[in-house]
Order: sequence, then structure tokens, then C-alpha cells
Amino acid sequence: MNVDNYADVKTENLKEEILRLKKERNAVILGHYYQKGEIQDLADFIGDSLALAQIATKLTQPVVVMCGVHFMGETVKILCPEKTVLVPDLNAGCSLADSCRPEEFKEFIDAHPGHTVISYVNTSAAVKALTDIVVTSSNAKAVVDTLPHDEKIIFGPDRNLGNYINSVTGRDMLVWDGACHVHEQFSIEKLVELKKQHPAAKVLAHPECKKALLILADVVGSTAALLKYAKESGDKEFIVATESGILHQMRKECPDKTFIPLPPDDSSCACNDCNFMKLNTLEKLRDCLRDMSPAIEVDETIIDRARQPIVRMLELSK
Ligand code: 13P
Ligand code: SF4
Repeated sequence: MNVDNYADVKTENLKEEILRLKKERNAVILGHYYQKGEIQDLADFIGDSLALAQIATKLTQPVVVMCGVHFMGETVKILCPEKTVLVPDLNAGCSLADSCRPEEFKEFIDAHPGHTVISYVNTSAAVKALTDIVVTSSNAKAVVDTLPHDEKIIFGPDRNLGNYINSVTGRDMLVWDGACHVHEQFSIEKLVELKKQHPAAKVLAHPECKKALLILADVVGSTAALLKYAKESGDKEFIVATESGILHQMRKECPDKTFIPLPPDDSSCACNDCNFMKLNTLEKLRDCLRDMSPAIEVDETIIDRARQPIVRMLELSK
């Protein structure tokens, strides 16, 4: 048996083991678009942050494995506290969520009384507990549009998404100064070069990217929105400015189209990976189903306070 065959057999065995354990545990596997392709292919449901939260409310299984990052597991736990919510690697955090500590966010809110607090879903449960309405990149504009134009709003934690929503809604929300280390790193110079090399290519960008990049984009949207555009448009070539995991689904669903990942600054790498998202592996997925650990735990009082703003988002997104 050559090395490649050995690796293939090992992967196939792992997948079989995961499917067997999933059945034994009566579990369901959710996966975000930034996961490794092999995990996306094994998941029962894949989606962006909004779709995964929506799916969570409809699940009947007692065990949910969230293949994504910690805040995504917390969102499922908050919506379904009676379920066991497993994550393959508890260290799969989020630099954006980490850029907004609950104590500091509370001080910011207290310093600006009379504001409605909107938090991006990429936040800890403790920050959600300080929030009036949660949003994702899919629904942030629509949710903000439901509020009276003179309503005073605090938006946290992503400055790029917040400033983008300010620009498309004509608002003047107070924006927390946080960011995602993946989306802030895309190279504008490389984008300009790629646009010259591929003049027909459409630029697809996630709103967590910097303003200078968003100005050059043809489409700005959540991972699901970018995938939808790629599938439905007549264009054949796309430069993709978001985490590289989405390319797996884009190439799978649009085999006749070309997707070019935008590289980060100062790097010889061709694409931009979220090191947190990529901590999850098939081995760790198997292990968490086998050991029923690590599981997400959220303090009951935090669950009670954080559920309302998430439910409000889900209601506004129907
Ligand atoms: P989506 O809301 O598009 O799934 O994005 C989640 C995320 O972590 C972006 O970095
Ligand atoms: Fe967080 Fe950025 Fe990774 Fe998304 S890509 S999970 S925002 S660190």
C-alpha cells in the first residue's frame, strides 16, 4: 500500500467511525463554511452563523456537535440549554470575540446611556448578555433598518462591519474598536494586481474586511450571501476575500467557475486561513463524539440574559 492509499484508508475509517458514533449518540453535526472541506462534507448541516443558529432551534437530537468556533457552540447552547453541545476543540476561539471583553464592553455601554446595544454574533455569551439585539453579517443591515432612524445605537465588536453598516444605512452608530485578524489582513495591493490579471473577475468580500477593500468589492456579504451570489450570477471568475474554507463549497457547487483566493499581506501563502477554525480535525471530531467531551458550558444566568437578544434576531430574520 503506498502512502497516499494509506492516508485515504485512514480517512475513510475515521469517517466511518464518526458516522457510527454519531448514530450511537443520536447526535447531529453542524459545520461552518470555514471548516476543513472533509468536515464540511461530513456535516449534516453547513451554513453561515445565522443559518447555523436557525437550524439549532429546529433540531430534535439531544447531542449537537458544532464544528466551528467557541461562540458558535455557545449560541447553540444558549438556544438549546437542555442539549449536550460538543465542540471538537475548545481552543477554537475567535480574535474578534476576544477583542471585546464583557467588563470593558459594559463600561462602554454605561458611558453611553440611552443607546440600543447591537452585538455581532462573534461575541462571548457574556457580551451577548449585555446586548439588546444580536446580529450576524447576514442580517445586520436588515435588523438595523427595523429601528427608528434617530435611535441611538452602540454596535460591537467589529469596526469594519459596524462602519460598513453605518455607510449603507446612513446611521451614525457608535462602533466598538474590534476586528478579526483574518479579514483585516487581506492585501489591497494583491487585490489590485489580481484585478489586473483577471479583469472579468467579480470581487466577493466579507464585511469584516477593511473599508479600502470593501470599496473595491463587487459584492459584500456573509459567507452564505457570497456563495449564493457565486451560484446565481452569470459570472465565471471570482476573487474571494474571506476565509479560504468557503472555497471548498464554492468549487463544489460551481464546478464550472473559477475562484481565486485573495492572499493576506506579507505572506507567500495563496489564501487566508482562520487558525481557530482550522483547529478542528476529523480525529478531534471522532474523539469528542467518543468521549462526549469537550462540551460547551454556559452559566445559567448568562443563558437567561443572552437568549433574548438572539431570539430577537431570529424573529427579525424570519
Ligand atoms: P458568517 O456570518 O458569514 O458565517 O461569518 C462568520 C465569521 O466568523 C466571519 O469571520
Ligand atoms: Fe473569528 Fe475571524 Fe476566525 Fe471568523 S475568521 S471565527 S471572525 S477569527
